Amino acid sequence: MSTPPASASESTNAAKPASSNEVRSEALRRRTFAVISHPDAGKSTLTEALALHAKVISEAGAVHGKAGRKSTVSDWMEMEKARGISVSSTALQFNYASSEAPKSVDGVDTVNVINLVDTPGHSDFSEDTYRVLTAVDAAVMLIDAAKGLEPQTLKLFQVCRHRGIPVITVINKWDRPGQTPLELLDEIDERIGLTPTPLFWPVGIAGDFRGLLRRGLDDHAGEAVEYIKFTRTAGGAKIAPEEHLTPEVALEREGDTWAEAAEESELLSASGQDHDQELFLAGQTSPVIFASAMLNFGVRQILDTLVALAPPPRARLAIDDTPREVDDPFSAVVFKVQAGMDTAHRDRLAFMRVVSGVFERGMVVTHAQTGKPFATKYALTVFGRERTTVENAYPGDVVGLVNATALAPGHTLFVDKKVEFPPIPSFAPEHFAILRAESASKYKQFRKAVDQLDSEGVVQILRNDIRGDASPVMAAVGPMQFEVVAARMKAEYNVDPKIEPLGYALARRTDAESTTELNRQRGVEVFERSDGVLLALVSDKWRLQYIQKELPDLTLEPLVAAT
Ligand code: G4P
Repeated sequence: MSTPPASASESTNAAKPASSNEVRSEALRRRTFAVISHPDAGKSTLTEALALHAKVISEAGAVHGKAGRKSTVSDWMEMEKARGISVSSTALQFNYASSEAPKSVDGVDTVNVINLVDTPGHSDFSEDTYRVLTAVDAAVMLIDAAKGLEPQTLKLFQVCRHRGIPVITVINKWDRPGQTPLELLDEIDERIGLTPTPLFWPVGIAGDFRGLLRRGLDDHAGEAVEYIKFTRTAGGAKIAPEEHLTPEVALEREGDTWAEAAEESELLSASGQDHDQELFLAGQTSPVIFASAMLNFGVRQILDTLVALAPPPRARLAIDDTPREVDDPFSAVVFKVQAGMDTAHRDRLAFMRVVSGVFERGMVVTHAQTGKPFATKYALTVFGRERTTVENAYPGDVVGLVNATALAPGHTLFVDKKVEFPPIPSFAPEHFAILRAESASKYKQFRKAVDQLDSEGVVQILRNDIRGDASPVMAAVGPMQFEVVAARMKAEYNVDPKIEPLGYALARRTDAESTTELNRQRGVEVFERSDGVLLALVSDKWRLQYIQKELPDLTLEPLVAAT
């Protein structure tokens, strides 16, 4: 179906169509990335530090709301505040003029537009994170210098690898005692098979962070090019002043500490740990930066690296394998749907990432899954509680659409030239619970809430004839998703549901032919998911192995693992 031309002309800002050149150069200056890390590695602190460097905030403490600091912007639910974790995904956009790049090239402004897409840190929300990672072009893997690679970082890294997303590694908290830099690199190399190629090497051991040695690139690979010495600011609230010194002056100032760093940098070259852009983009190597998000040391270097090395938005393959080029007519992918993000705005937001063309607020787009037109009158950027109306957006940008009830994660929007992007796979659930309305009088509200949370993908909703409609089964990757359901039902629908855990541990895709036989087995029950997929829930892996052995003709296919 094509876009209705009549409605398109009703656009609130029916600007002239952007030229292909304009879209391409807008795409080229964009970098869209997410930070992947284990809880507590410093993601919120780094987000804030990046915002400080981009002058979005004037003092650290505005976004991040930990003890003793200013009010919280990014937290949106009581539960989230209580646990100090980020449940929702939001996006922060800012302009950034790299201090490394020339101010303009051929008369074109070289200010970059950075889109930082937030990911939930807790492993229970890994499905959500997976969806977010479909919207980015690069990832920053944030590692705590004392703890090294932690389980959630590993899982998220595997998602990046699976999706071919290049990863920049940041070793954080270098101001605190931790492992040696070489130990940390070995761990990355050995445990995930990613060759770390440091761009900046720490001067001073963990706990005595003096500055960064910039390693040379290409013909100067491994050479100590300069010393960037940082000065602390009170409470790390401001950008840390930098001095740029030659290696000779560095040696005079830091003596053995500098000599050791320079020697280690040479060692890295001897073992082939120098940056190679092609290998980085192919996901085989990862540039490494040592930093302290809290002191704002190395933060500018992270931004400059993103600008210099991370890929800009590129063509995306459609479901039929044809590429949608960035300068094709507008298209976007919905990667996240969220209602009730803020009690002050009780609405439902669908977040889309622009894939091609220009988005103009008010334009009417086509929803590929239904073929229906969709008017984009209310388009926003959302970061925590702050909402700003979006007038235009280009490839790589993230836009929140208000009250977009038909949109679900994985859906495509487009104008003119029809396109549909591949769906986002849902994860294999490992936790199951029955959801019941507290009383029959609240049933209508209950039903509405279930449908809403299901379409947002908060949990997967399963039903079968035996249990009936009044007590659907929730399936989740992590049990905390059930708490989100309970909290949201109460806050947004005034329903206090009863949640009873169900004794299954695995789900397998099955078919109608296998259903009767499977339902006869002990420890097995077949359900229909709301997307029509039949799932057999099984009590444990031994039961599954037994059935597969005894009844090999039954269909029991694994789902996408939660990595
Ligand atoms: P997260 O979003 O990844 O969960 O981590 P978050 O930024 O909340 O940081 C977790 C803790 O680590 C915080 O301490 C934070 O201050 C601290 N932190 C983050 N980056 C650095 C760093 O570069 N150096 C040091 N030394 N600490 C860092 P907290 O005690 O939980 O909170 P707060 O009271 O310090 O705010």
